[in-house]
Amino acid sequence: MNNFELYNPVNYVFGKGQIEKLTNLVPANTKILIAYGGGSVFKNGVYEQVKSALNFQFKNNEIIEFGGIEPNPRYETLMNAVKIIRTEKVGFILAVGGGSVIDGVKFISGAVNYEGDEAEILRKRILFKDKSKVIPFGTILTLPATGSEMNSGAVITIEETQEKLTLGGSALFPLFSIVDPSVIISLPKKQLQNGVIDAFTHVMEQYLTYSHDALLQDRISEGILQTLIEIGPGVVENPADYKLASNFVWCATMALNGLIQKGVPSDWATHMIGHELTALYEIDHARTLAIIAPSLYRVMFDTKKDKLAQYGIRVWNISGNSTEEIAEKALEKTTAFFHLMGMKTKLSENTDTYKETADFIVRRFEKRGWIALGEKQNITPEKVREIVEMSY
Ligand code: NZQ
Ligand code: ZN
Repeated sequence: MNNFELYNPVNYVFGKGQIEKLTNLVPANTKILIAYGGGSVFKNGVYEQVKSALNFQFKNNEIIEFGGIEPNPRYETLMNAVKIIRTEKVGFILAVGGGSVIDGVKFISGAVNYEGDEAEILRKRILFKDKSKVIPFGTILTLPATGSEMNSGAVITIEETQEKLTLGGSALFPLFSIVDPSVIISLPKKQLQNGVIDAFTHVMEQYLTYSHDALLQDRISEGILQTLIEIGPGVVENPADYKLASNFVWCATMALNGLIQKGVPSDWATHMIGHELTALYEIDHARTLAIIAPSLYRVMFDTKKDKLAQYGIRVWNISGNSTEEIAEKALEKTTAFFHLMGMKTKLSENTDTYKETADFIVRRFEKRGWIALGEKQNITPEKVREIVEMSY
């Protein structure tokens, strides 16, 4: 097992009716900015719950609002919130929404006191480590998928250049996250499907690498994958089923809160390539993963076949005569699961204009110096081209 440090300070508040706990979680005597997305919070009663929890407390807080954070949040939009916080002297931000709103708030939190061009935070991938330099924030999660409620990473799009870039650092963990599984009832089926597949792929990025000695991490990962396979098809049909919803939400958090990543190698190339498909064609994040992952596992078959076979045996109960045969069947099972979850696994099924995609991505990766991706740094630009072309 590799050496590691495990640091995760998020106060994770889980369960039905927990939004009312907000009353005790927000700091006193501070101006609060409530940030949300395109308005789902008004339709599903979450905004009402938040407002009533905040109004019940007498901590001398003033509240202002910032709505309109879009899916795949835009740097340009977020900078408007940064300016408001600077002039209004806001001391705390409350993100109410899915991964996009929470990620947007992480960027805002870091950008307010950043000296220099704020786009550098993304282009130079600035790490925020000093808590005194960021605006503290909490979250109310409305869409289980990204794990952003319990991690310190974020993904932001610069509209002007169509770049989807990441930021993070230990100062960007939420102070608290309130996660009520009953709020997923209002999610469109498509978003529920996305959530299951995003969480599934997060586990795969950290699990489907090569055989190693971290036995517990593998078993936890396999447990999350098996649970998602067990509940995924049901929860998208019936998100009101609390047993399904609560397990789904907890799986999504556990898939990317840092735990399963400790002491093990990880890949993340599916995400890196997938982000380009969103930047270029605005395909939902999870759907880009379902397009890229099957081709990546196939192109990198030799590197990944031992782990693919372990996954096939333990997660899918596959048997066979050789590692290759089991690994092959595991690949088929994975793609079939993506289809069952409503994913279209070919790029051409998601967009009409795709023929230049591989060229574009390879050129962009080379320019950024991303020439050795994956757990063995053997996903070269040539491999990226092969993966993207195979996904057409
Ligand atoms: O904007 P509103 O009106 O709120 O509607 C949203 C949005 O249209 C809607 N929605 C959210 N909760 C709802 C709801 N509709 C009805 N009922 C509810 N309870 O769903 C739509 C999608 O929301 P979004 O936040 O964009 O989805 P998701 O949570 O999947 O986040 C995707 C973003 O997160 C990034 C992705 O790249 C993408 O930008 N990721 C962040 C990660 C992280 N921070 O660790 C890791 C991930 O791999 C991912 O890259
Ligand atoms: Zn993801």
